[in-house]
Amino acid sequence: MSAFAPSSAGRRPGLQPARNFVLLETRALGKTFAIGGREIVALAEVDLALARGSFTVIIGRSGCGKSTLLRVVAGLTEPTSGAIRYAHEKRPTIGSVFQEPRLMPWLNVEANIAFGLIGKLPKSEIDDRVTEVLDLVGLKAFRDAQPDQLSGGMASRVGLARALAMKPDILLFDEPFAALDAFTRRNLQQELSAIWRTRQPTILFVTHDVEEAVVLGDVILHMSEGRVVDRIPVPLAHPREPTDSDVVSIRSRVLQRLAAPAAFHHGNVVPLQPPLSIAVPKEKIS
Ligand SMILES: Nc1ncnc2c1ncn2[C@@H]1O[C@H](COP(=O)(O)OP(=O)(O)OP(=O)(O)O)[C@@H](O)[C@H]1O
Ligand SMILES: [Mg+2]
Repeated sequence: MSAFAPSSAGRRPGLQPARNFVLLETRALGKTFAIGGREIVALAEVDLALARGSFTVIIGRSGCGKSTLLRVVAGLTEPTSGAIRYAHEKRPTIGSVFQEPRLMPWLNVEANIAFGLIGKLPKSEIDDRVTEVLDLVGLKAFRDAQPDQLSGGMASRVGLARALAMKPDILLFDEPFAALDAFTRRNLQQELSAIWRTRQPTILFVTHDVEEAVVLGDVILHMSEGRVVDRIPVPLAHPREPTDSDVVSIRSRVLQRLAAPAAFHHGNVVPLQPPLSIAVPKEKIS
């Protein structure tokens, strides 16, 4: 069997979320910065399509523009060129999870999670949301703890819970587990995978870890020098284990493709193999 052929042996392919339209797409997105009179091209004509319920992973060497892409998609910084288009009239809600959970040290776990909801929901509903997400990340017993009483992994879970509590349409992750030990990291991957399968958020996830990319993602985008240079589908059912033979073989294929991305075989960035764009009914894009 080819490394990229789907395998559903012993799995539940029905758990794959429905992906029937693109929630957000970028067209020729560009972002330049000026550092000391020098122009830095962080993003160069990035085309990205996030289908509803998809799990897209971005990998690429340091400085290739991954965090910049997330910041532009999150609306934290304006692109220099190109456009972001949404499936609905209104911009989808977006939550972000970073490598450092960035908890407010003077607030306990409950208050950190509730913070973004205050004034938007009645108190009883906020309480219910906090309970629900603490349950999802396995931290019910630490509702009253202060951030400095948590381990790194627990703080990361609170960061994840805080983002989930907002029930965003899209979740952005920027190397969220990079600073964690291998066991905690694997636990959090399993929790995130379970949350994705049950709640079906749309996820855009940056990592430097190819194994993590293959275990979690259903498509891997390779970025290089501000461009998406390769798109690698991972057509395996969830949940996945790093030791699954299909995961191991796709991981090794991804590593090979990282060394020689498809786009570079054609001189530059086009055409991508397979094409980057996901078919989307035109009327769905505003
Ligand atoms: N606020 C900024 N001002 C100036 N230059 C910036 C700014 N943010 C990013 N850059 C530049 O944009 C380029 C891409 O940076 P970015 O942080 O997106 O890379 P990255 O792929 O996330 O790297 P890493 O894997 O190390 O996190 C780099 O050359 C960086 O110096
Ligand atoms: Mg980064």
